Amino acid sequence: MSQLKNFFDASAVAIIGASNTPGKIGYAILRNMLDCGYPGRIYPINPRDKEILGLAAYPSLAALPEKVDLAVISVPARMVLPVARECGEHGVKHLVTITAGFKELGKEGLEAEKELINICRQYGMRNLGPNCAGMMDTHVPINTSFAKGFPLKGDIAFYSQSGAMMIAILDWSRSIGLGFSKVVSLGNKADLSEIDFIEEAADDPYTRVILCYIEDVMDGARFLEVVGRATRKKPVIILKSGTSQAGALAASSHTGALAGSDLAYDTAFKQCGVIRARSMTELFDLAIAFSQCPVPRGDKVAIVTNSGGPGIITTDNVELKGLQMSRFTKETLDELRAGLPPEAGIYNPVDVLGDAKTDRYRFALEKVCSDPNTDSVVLLMCPTAVTEPVETSRALIEMRDRYPDKPFLAAYMGGGSLQEGAEMLARAGIPCFTFPEPGINAIKELVNYGKFKDTPPSGDELAFPDVDKRAVKAIFYDVVKDNRLVLLGSEAYDVARAYGIPAAPIVLATSPEEAVEEAEKMGYPVVMKVASPKILHKTDVGGVKVGLQNADQVRSAFVEIMENVTRLMPQAVVYGIEVQKMMPRGNELIIGMTRDVQFGPMIGCGLGGIYVNLLKDVSFRLARGLNRREIEAMLMETKAYTLLRGYRGEQPSDIPALVEAIARVARLVLDFPEITEMDINPVFTYPSGLSALDVKITISLS
Ligand code: ACO
Repeated sequence: MSQLKNFFDASAVAIIGASNTPGKIGYAILRNMLDCGYPGRIYPINPRDKEILGLAAYPSLAALPEKVDLAVISVPARMVLPVARECGEHGVKHLVTITAGFKELGKEGLEAEKELINICRQYGMRNLGPNCAGMMDTHVPINTSFAKGFPLKGDIAFYSQSGAMMIAILDWSRSIGLGFSKVVSLGNKADLSEIDFIEEAADDPYTRVILCYIEDVMDGARFLEVVGRATRKKPVIILKSGTSQAGALAASSHTGALAGSDLAYDTAFKQCGVIRARSMTELFDLAIAFSQCPVPRGDKVAIVTNSGGPGIITTDNVELKGLQMSRFTKETLDELRAGLPPEAGIYNPVDVLGDAKTDRYRFALEKVCSDPNTDSVVLLMCPTAVTEPVETSRALIEMRDRYPDKPFLAAYMGGGSLQEGAEMLARAGIPCFTFPEPGINAIKELVNYGKFKDTPPSGDELAFPDVDKRAVKAIFYDVVKDNRLVLLGSEAYDVARAYGIPAAPIVLATSPEEAVEEAEKMGYPVVMKVASPKILHKTDVGGVKVGLQNADQVRSAFVEIMENVTRLMPQAVVYGIEVQKMMPRGNELIIGMTRDVQFGPMIGCGLGGIYVNLLKDVSFRLARGLNRREIEAMLMETKAYTLLRGYRGEQPSDIPALVEAIARVARLVLDFPEITEMDINPVFTYPSGLSALDVKITISLS
């Protein structure tokens, strides 16, 4: 449940730091509150003036005739904490703290910011900011910002971590007639963040599309939970900036090096149904399309154009985006053939030719719209001497009104001569772009969103009653006691076994005779590997022997490995030699895990073996909330999937067993936050079952 009651729809607002001096922020905020037509009571608070902008001003909250729901704070930073405390004492529910000079300034500012939040917690207040440009709601209406002007009324909620960006967008949006339900500058997000506002907007009857510009997410677990729920109700489109490779460089495992910090965001957005925009332009193109178009029934696109080249370009783009061109029925084709000039193109794209006036466009639109294989309609127009942009726009609007369940989009490729027609479309709620690509991209996102909404959410699929948590705890305890953080192969095997992850048996032997005993128990052939956490590349120091067939070979391999290692890495502590059952070859995969600071463990899977980093054929999902459908989708994104399904006559691998193993790895890393990195490479997959050959686990002291 959203906790923002009386935040936007406050019945009384105090503006602390309201000023009579034009040019001051305290003046601009009060001016905006008055100009927007706010219906509640406004109380300017100022220690000196008795009246500000025609309203009675008060020296303090104590002097007010009533309690206020919301206080906007616009006083210098050093005054903010006492003012916030005063707000708490006088029953204020929410603060909008405009003042800058907090976390963004460093340690001292951060301390002050923490104190501000402590005060809010103490009095049960919620805070927007500090260091923000305020918030607006066009339906209340309320404007606590110092932005120039007020947005047009609309159904898009926009939350921005950059105040400047918010202000710029507002100015631009008015010029193109784009309306908003709410606009919020998130500032430092010390308390309220995009998560709280997305939660609120998901149930707001005036909001149809939720847009965000963010630089980070500060509570990954809550983001996944809350935003994952919101996207089932409304589209949430996010532009996230500040991507960096720093996380990837810091990671030492294969999986970590393949991931990188932006991947966690990408994965998180994908898993909770967020539509990710890659630029400001895309953010608003998608916002317009989602606010004006219905989600189409399917992915088939019909194009009507008066020019061949743009028709071909758009067709290419449809395919590039994974959409389909509508294949019209025989009746539609017959009618188009009969009604259009013989030179016209009747197959999709329908080319009504350069001399087309509105009647020809209208005729073609009528035919393609009524075709059962048309899910979305795109109209392309180039301005020839006979084109009738305004009348054709009218025809398109009529058609949209007749087929309200289909998205209609247009690309008017030109300048001034098409402007009136384009503006008519914009006013009527038909997205009109200068070139076709943004429109096709929008259709793709609409189609994907429709698919996402049609897929029922899954419950917890990572509950495995047979896992042995205590056994894993005991292993980690012993490892730490031994002053290590990296598990030996045999220990990692025991961890995998405790969680039902199929792995090739591996046992530590400390003498040649013990090695023989273990090899006889597991059966020949066996592999022997040196057990030393310090030796990362065992083969390079002669620390691995494969295909050992009998006791003599095992005995001499033990001695040989010990000699090699002593010679090449005399300083390495050697725990003994691990004896492992030699498994038949299968498809070589990797299953790995790396942790993201915000979103927790990420599971990767793809082509394994020694060329993992070169091939980079690994796809990722967050462990939190993972389900079998997502695991399968993750596998399908890799080239390895082609191998798994049986490549060039080979038998297919046991994909359900792989999905199960990945789910169990996800359970393990969620249960044990102390596992910092995990790589299982290779995993051999077989027609029946699979086997993990090399399990690497690193833990932290926690
Ligand atoms: N109670 C009530 N009023 C008070 C109090 C108080 N305790 N203390 C001071 N005031 C009054 C002052 O008397 C003054 O009124 P006056 O004009 O009648 O004298 C008013 O509050 C403002 O105080 P000033 O000292 O004049 O402060 P000023 O207006 O210069 O600056 C501000 C205050 C705007 C909050 C400034 O400290 C600040 O943080 N500026 C940056 C804001 C910002 O950029 N935020 C991020 C936006 S995001 C973006 O990038 C766009």
